[in-house]
Amino acid sequence: MKQHTLLMPLDMHLHLRDGVMMEHIANLSSYSFSGALVMPNLVPPLKTKSDVIAYKERILHCTGVVPTDEDEEFMSEQDFEPYMSLFYDNYSKEFLEDISEEILAIKLYPAGITTNSEGGVSNFDIESMRETLEAISELEIPLCVHGESNGFVMDRETEFMSVYELLASNFPNLKIIMEHITTKDAVEMLDKYDNLYATITLHHLLITLDDVAGGMLKPHLFCKPIAKRPQDQQALLKVALDAHPKVMFGSDSAPHPQHAKEACGCAAGVFTAPIALQALCELFDKHDKLDNLQYFVSDNAQSIYGICPDFKEVVLVEEPFKVPDIYTDVVPMFAGETLKWSIEDVD
Ligand code: NCD
Ligand code: ZN
Repeated sequence: MKQHTLLMPLDMHLHLRDGVMMEHIANLSSYSFSGALVMPNLVPPLKTKSDVIAYKERILHCTGVVPTDEDEEFMSEQDFEPYMSLFYDNYSKEFLEDISEEILAIKLYPAGITTNSEGGVSNFDIESMRETLEAISELEIPLCVHGESNGFVMDRETEFMSVYELLASNFPNLKIIMEHITTKDAVEMLDKYDNLYATITLHHLLITLDDVAGGMLKPHLFCKPIAKRPQDQQALLKVALDAHPKVMFGSDSAPHPQHAKEACGCAAGVFTAPIALQALCELFDKHDKLDNLQYFVSDNAQSIYGICPDFKEVVLVEEPFKVPDIYTDVVPMFAGETLKWSIEDVD
């Protein structure tokens, strides 16, 4: 039986939500990942130091590394580092200096482009953003960007490339992460600027728009940015399988309750956290690239972000894994289907 071990897997783009939803889903990430960059698009978004600290505490309670108030026992043994991000705004340098120890990154959203992004940037006028971006750059805080315009849905990411170029050239020392890239254009942009990096999701490696809307509409595959053309998927797959040093895994696992997905007005987001490592193993194995998976799911992120997660070893085996139809009230990608690889052990 084939076996593959991953060390310190990292998910560099994860939505853990809050409250009851977080209680249901956070353990699914902390079980198999060493850490994750947690997105700040809560309601209201994370914009203050006290909010970031309090949210991190709530995550640690849910993932079992902090004793609960009522019970001094640890809830579980799962070691998991929630790397925190701050929702971008026109912050002052003083504010950023004060919060820099608490966060790993700042996440910039165009206003209204995706779930809970209403408080984002509505006008990418570099001069009005310069002071904040210079401070972010000087403090060496990576800037994660949701790169979509508000144009035609299939062109949104490509149209945003000019903003990436403006940011990358005006702030050459700023580390810019193009989040969840979905196009060949974004892949090509990576090699044009030293300071551009990218996360890639599992679903964008596997699907195109055809899988979402080419036959019966698949609400659980609907997300922002929408999956694109076969040539885009192939370009993403190539850099992931080759473990291009500027790309890393970010699931963008974005849980919404079943009723919000299977609805007239389907919420955007694909829930992949509990199946991601198994499906990645299957994909990399299929292409004879299993040896590169370690770079894609951990080593590249460690170098790009300069992080050193606690030891965790995840042993996967080529044994069928029947994906549950539902996790509490969230339907995962591949619900009810059988994946070729499963997690055997986590140490
Ligand atoms: C994300 C969510 O639901 O928070 N949705 C999504 O489709 N990816 C937000 C985001 O990352 O765009
Ligand atoms: Zn996201």
